[in-house]
Formats: sequence, structure tokens, C-alpha cells
Amino acid sequence: MAFGVLSLGGLTVLLSLLLQYKNVSYKSFRETETKMSEENRKRCGELRENLTSQELPKEIDVGRLAEDIKKLRTCPWEQDFAVLNRYRTDLNKCSNLTQRLVLTRENAPIGHEIEYEVAEQRVRVEEPLFKLLPRESPFKKAPYKRCAVVGNAGILLNSGCGRRIDQADFVFRCNLPPLNYSKDVGSKTDLVTANPSIIIQKYHGLKESRRLFVERMKVYKDALILMAAFSQSFATEISLAVAYALEDFGSKQKAIFFHPAYLRQLGSLWRSWGVRARRLSSGLMLVSAALELCDSVALYGFWPFSTGLDGEAVLHHYYDNVPPEPGVHAMSSEFVHYLQMHSKGVLQLHVGKCL
Ligand SMILES: *[C@@H]1O[C@H](CO)[C@@H](O)[C@H](O)[C@H]1NC(C)=O
Ligand SMILES: *[C@@H]1O[C@H](CO)[C@@H](O)[C@H](O)[C@H]1NC(C)=O
Ligand SMILES: *[C@@H]1O[C@H](CO)[C@@H](O)[C@H](O)[C@H]1NC(C)=O
Repeated sequence: MAFGVLSLGGLTVLLSLLLQYKNVSYKSFRETETKMSEENRKRCGELRENLTSQELPKEIDVGRLAEDIKKLRTCPWEQDFAVLNRYRTDLNKCSNLTQRLVLTRENAPIGHEIEYEVAEQRVRVEEPLFKLLPRESPFKKAPYKRCAVVGNAGILLNSGCGRRIDQADFVFRCNLPPLNYSKDVGSKTDLVTANPSIIIQKYHGLKESRRLFVERMKVYKDALILMAAFSQSFATEISLAVAYALEDFGSKQKAIFFHPAYLRQLGSLWRSWGVRARRLSSGLMLVSAALELCDSVALYGFWPFSTGLDGEAVLHHYYDNVPPEPGVHAMSSEFVHYLQMHSKGVLQLHVGKCL
């Protein structure tokens, strides 16, 4: 829509030149257009105001949310650096200026005690773990210009968003999603999370053959595979097994581990902003990291509801209809935050079709 307005502006200049040459008055045309864009600007401003000033609703009315989003789609989106920087300042405290988003040999040297995020447990870094860690932050090239964070919501099906997603400079994905829907979800992947539960369900925790797993990871090319290895006790062995499998087979993908101190502080930060859940979803962890690592962030595939913008049924994921484990995440409250951040110019939230 921003382009629509811009090109309309260009058209006005062109028309005005033409009309001037022809000695015809174009004044009324310009006035009508100015009045229209003035009205649109006011309406969009009011809508954004409505969406950001609201208290977080207890019960989400999906129909109303959908109406607001449809209206919002006719409004241009502009980044607001001042507000974005306020978010970044708070996020920077959790990540120590991104130096401890993930465990590295710098922030977890031999002898360092890793304190788990959730479990009341510590582990000392010894040689074998140390060797698995990257020498330094794998995000040395940040900030990336334009990032896409891709959730796995069913709303992505038939969205046609694949090309837009692949045009981003850095693409984040959640939980090893299938990529054979590239028209809708794209295929570029720079970082993908892997929950321990999917490694258990699909690959028996890598206790048996690891070849299938390694083969399947090839679709992610040279992506980083990010795991919360030191959040809960059971996750550590599985995450290390993933790292060893990739290493042993000479895979192009590398496993990295969230720094548990980052996740702990990030959890408190979002709790202070009203996200009350046992844990943040991996989607929100990635969105938070992207806000620090990228100049601009666009979200696709975030829509935790079973009806779409026009009331049509949508699947839980673009690739299946398995609902998330109830009571762990606060997906709808996370979504309302994304919508508010969109309205404030912090990130761009795409829901529905990409044109
Ligand atoms: C903003 O909210 C008010 C009160 O709910 C409503 O009357 C108005 O139509 C809303 N504005 C827009 C642009 O949606
Ligand atoms: C933050 O990172 C710097 C190095 O970049 C390090 O010297 C400092 O100790 C870190 N602070 C914390 C609280 O980890
Ligand atoms: C993607 O692969 C899955 C599993 O192999 C299959 O069921 C599905 O139909 C495929 N989807 C598309 C759009 O190719």
C-alpha cells in the first residue's frame, strides 16, 4: 500500500505537468486526492491508536481481530525507529548486546557453570561440550538488513508468500518445518529451531539410526539449527545428539544452543509485558532475537487461531493439523503483541495472502 501511495504521488506530479502544459486546471483533482489521503491517514492513525492503546484482552475475539487486520492492510506501514530502539534497549539487556543469545566458547569457556533456564540444575563446561560450541557469536555479520521470521501457522497455506520470504537477507524458521510448500513458505533458511520433542517423536531421540535425520536436514542447506539444550534436563542429551549427528556426518548445518540466561531473562521481560505462560514459544524467542539482529523484521505464518481472516477454517500448521500441547504457551497473547508491534512500527506482521 505504501507503494500505492507513492506511485499516486508520482502520478500527480506527472499529471500536473501534463495539465499545466495543456493549460487546464488540475487544482480540483489535487484537492480531492489530498483530501482522500488525509482521511486515510487519519483513519489509519486512529486504527493504530485503537490497537496499541488497548489493554490486552482476556478473551480474544478472532472475528474482530480479523476485521482490524483487514483494515490495517489498507494502511501504509512505516518503521518507527524510536519505538523499535526502545524495544531493542530492553532486549539488549537480556542478550548482553547479542553476545549471549547462544552459547559460545567466549561466553561459556571450560570450567564455566551453565545454569539451566527452567530446571534447577547446573552443568560445568568440559572439553567435549566446549568443542561443540562455536568459537564466537555466529551472528557476527549482524545486523542483517531485512529479516523474515516464519511461523508454521496454517494461514500460510495458499498465501503465495514464498517469494517474499526468500527475498529476505536472513530467514528464521521454527521447529524443523517441511519446506516442500515453497510457493507459500519459501525455502531460504538461515536459522531453524528444533524442539527436543520433535527429535524424540520423529527420530527416536537419535538413539537408533541417525542417517535419516541427517538426510532430512539437507533441505536447510547451511542453516544454523538452534536448540534450547539447557532449558530442561531432558533436552540436553537430545540436543547434543543432534550436534554430534551433524558433525559426524559432515553436514553443512551446525547445531547451536540458546544461552539459558538469555531465555530466562527474555521470559521475565515478556512476562513484565503481559505474556503469561509457562514458557515463551520458539516463535517469540526468534522474533525477539530478530529485533536485535536485523534492521527490519517481517513476520509470516503467525496466526494461532482456527479460523482465518474471512472466517474460513485454517489448519494449526501449514503442513498438518496437530494442535500444540495445551497450557504451555500463550500463543494468542503473543499474537496480540505482534499486532501491537506492527501498529507501532516495530515490525511488520503479514497475515493472509501476499500479493
Ligand atoms: C476505534 O475505536 C472506536 C471505539 O471502539 C471505534 O468507534 C472506531 O471505529 C475505531 N476506529 C477505527 C479506525 O477502527
Ligand atoms: C557482556 O559481554 C561482555 C563482552 O562482550 C563481557 O565482558 C561481560 O562480562 C558480559 N556481561 C555479562 C553480564 O555476561
Ligand atoms: C509435502 O510433503 C508431505 C510429506 O512427504 C506430503 O504429505 C505433502 O503432500 C507435500 N506437500 C506438497 C505441497 O508438496
